[in-house]
Amino acid sequence: MTKHIGILTAGGDSPGLNAAIRGVGKAAEGYFGMQVIGFRDGFRGLAENRAQRLSADVLSGILTVGGTILGTSRDKPHKMVIGGKIHDMTDAIVENYHANHLDVLVCLGGGGTQKNALRLKQKGLNIITLPKTIDNDVAHTDVTFGFDTALGIATESIDRLHSTAHSHHRIIVVEIMGHRAGWLALGAGIAGGADVILLPELPYDVNSVAEAIRDRVRSGKKFSIVAVAEGAMPGDFAAQHTAALALKEKADSKEEKKQARSELDSLEQLHRNHTMQLGMQLEELTGLEARVTILGYLQRGGTPSAADRLLATRLGSACTNYINDDVYGVMVAARGDQAEAVALEEVAGQRRLVPPDHPWIEAARHVGTSLGD
Ligand code: F6P
Repeated sequence: MTKHIGILTAGGDSPGLNAAIRGVGKAAEGYFGMQVIGFRDGFRGLAENRAQRLSADVLSGILTVGGTILGTSRDKPHKMVIGGKIHDMTDAIVENYHANHLDVLVCLGGGGTQKNALRLKQKGLNIITLPKTIDNDVAHTDVTFGFDTALGIATESIDRLHSTAHSHHRIIVVEIMGHRAGWLALGAGIAGGADVILLPELPYDVNSVAEAIRDRVRSGKKFSIVAVAEGAMPGDFAAQHTAALALKEKADSKEEKKQARSELDSLEQLHRNHTMQLGMQLEELTGLEARVTILGYLQRGGTPSAADRLLATRLGSACTNYINDDVYGVMVAARGDQAEAVALEEVAGQRRLVPPDHPWIEAARHVGTSLGD
């Protein structure tokens, strides 16, 4: 019997999503003779049954295209804002899954998507996920698609900032995406030769950053590049943030949860201008001129790199092997050149952070890069 596959993209977009949709779709339709439909705008489109048949002509010409042809959203099945109110749309999603006679739903997404996918698995649906995000922080996979492209964009940006920083004898503080995980800032910082790299995983001391820059001045280098992940924090602030997170984790009652969330929100609000403030502090502490560049959404846009196209295609194709074998309730992870099925229970709620003893950290330190600690 012909298998029917539903597919959606959820969470922030990232380069390689279309390559993955194409990988799943072409292998499913062309190789296995299955049928594929796509749902628009993540879980919202499934809740609202906005479906589109992904026939060969729709899947053609999208390999190199950035973003996602299906659209995406950060909507969660159990907490969807509709008409200004939060609704649990899980039942509607289950109903639409069956109404479309699906044998499996493929969800392409990052950490949040893995959690939402597990919720749907627990409702009895056959689910498979693929790991995407430029942050590279999905647990139990070597790498996520989107990361390599963003790494290239951020590295090229640092290269370009180098020449202007050098010409003007300035500090340039460049903010790189990554709220909780510093893979992108660390990778681009090393590849671009940043003088200082600041990560969410390693709270920093602004005085040691300033000292590293002054050291460079003493050795005749009057410019410095500081690559800072958007979630990097100075030590005292990081301690407050960790305490607020722990409070939220152990909050029992609705009231406690609300209070913990509001404390966390106000800290995160305070942190919003962090990179600008860091630039000003460094100017004051070193006496050098400082400028700030926030790379922002440039890192998520545009054509995927060759490595991301390859990764998305091979994981998409491996996904259809699992479907053909009736293996469900898993994420298709990258393990070297192989794909591996990891139970959603193991992935959901986990985040792959940069460990302090990671070889990239050691390499950065060995070449004289300050990590601000
Ligand atoms: O895709 C991951 C990510 O890029 C994070 O690094 C960033 O903090 C976040 O998404 C912001 O995305 P949005 O504004 O779309 O929620």
